Amino acid sequence: MTKVLITGGAGFIGSFLAHKLVKLGRDVTIVDNLSMGRKENIDDIDVTFYQHDVCDHQFMHELLTKREFDYIYYLAAVSSVADSVERPLETHEVNQESVVDTLEYIRKQNLPIKRFLFTSSAAVYGNLPDFPKQEDSHVQPLTPYAIDKYASERFTIDYGNLYGLPTTAVRFFNVYGPRQNPDSPYSGVLSIITKCLKENKPFTLYGDGSQTRDFVYVDDVVNALMTISKQSNEPKVYNVANGGETPLIDVIHTYEKISGKQIKIKFAESRNGDINKSKADISRLKEIGFEPHWSLEDGLKNYWDYYAKK
Ligand code: UD1
Repeated sequence: MTKVLITGGAGFIGSFLAHKLVKLGRDVTIVDNLSMGRKENIDDIDVTFYQHDVCDHQFMHELLTKREFDYIYYLAAVSSVADSVERPLETHEVNQESVVDTLEYIRKQNLPIKRFLFTSSAAVYGNLPDFPKQEDSHVQPLTPYAIDKYASERFTIDYGNLYGLPTTAVRFFNVYGPRQNPDSPYSGVLSIITKCLKENKPFTLYGDGSQTRDFVYVDDVVNALMTISKQSNEPKVYNVANGGETPLIDVIHTYEKISGKQIKIKFAESRNGDINKSKADISRLKEIGFEPHWSLEDGLKNYWDYYAKK
């Protein structure tokens, strides 16, 4: 049976990936410290779960040797840009050092992996004028988060080029959907908006709402990851996005219509390091057979229905 490791597998995106892989009959192991992930996200599937920090190198080494995974999906991260600005050193240990340590251990021990996939971020592109963002557009990592994601992504690709490891990296744009944890001020904006709508609480909008994002529904992200991991090409980076661009204020109004509720907006200063415009060119992903199936409106409908049913 194919053995898969998902770090961060109890989190929002990782748990959707875990559900999909279990359905496909894979033997799935998850390492997650539950800092943002939740055990209940994976309670209903048959996986081996370790509540553990990926920064515990000794633990990771033992696990990698013991299980000899075929596929490793590296999703464990402090996923918040703003959090990395507050705690650059702590987030660096998770977002970069743990990744390099894992790659180095695989190399030194000659572990027989079929693919190591690292999840990088659209944050690496920063605020440069190239638009929409292509994988070989210039980068401008503006925050510790973006710097670490970029460095880890380069390490991932280099471990492929220099040492022949089968590696791939993806740059996630703004992923949204059910199970995204809204409980931190640093959580993904759509999870926070959903919670505010549900609980009739005011929403703090940083900036004037004209900042744009390429929002991609989590189902599409999992399908993109499945398509990418089937490739046996040289180490490559793929944008994972919808290919659309929506101002935050428009997203809020669309969501108000869908939910039939109004949200009270409190305007505040833009966040330090925040990006103004974001949109992906997804031609590279389309070339290998991926098509996004979820429009923003359909995705938001599904997201809202999920909470309405709960
Ligand atoms: C997000 C992801 C990051 C990913 C990147 C890729 C999260 C937490 N962050 O960063 O992991 O790598 O996309 O593009 O999912 N905002 C508000 N009010 C709030 C929260 C946010 O106005 O309460 C604003 C932010 O200032 C920002 C926008 O909403 O302008 C999106 O913020 P956020 O969801 O944190 O995502 P990114 O910073 O784009």
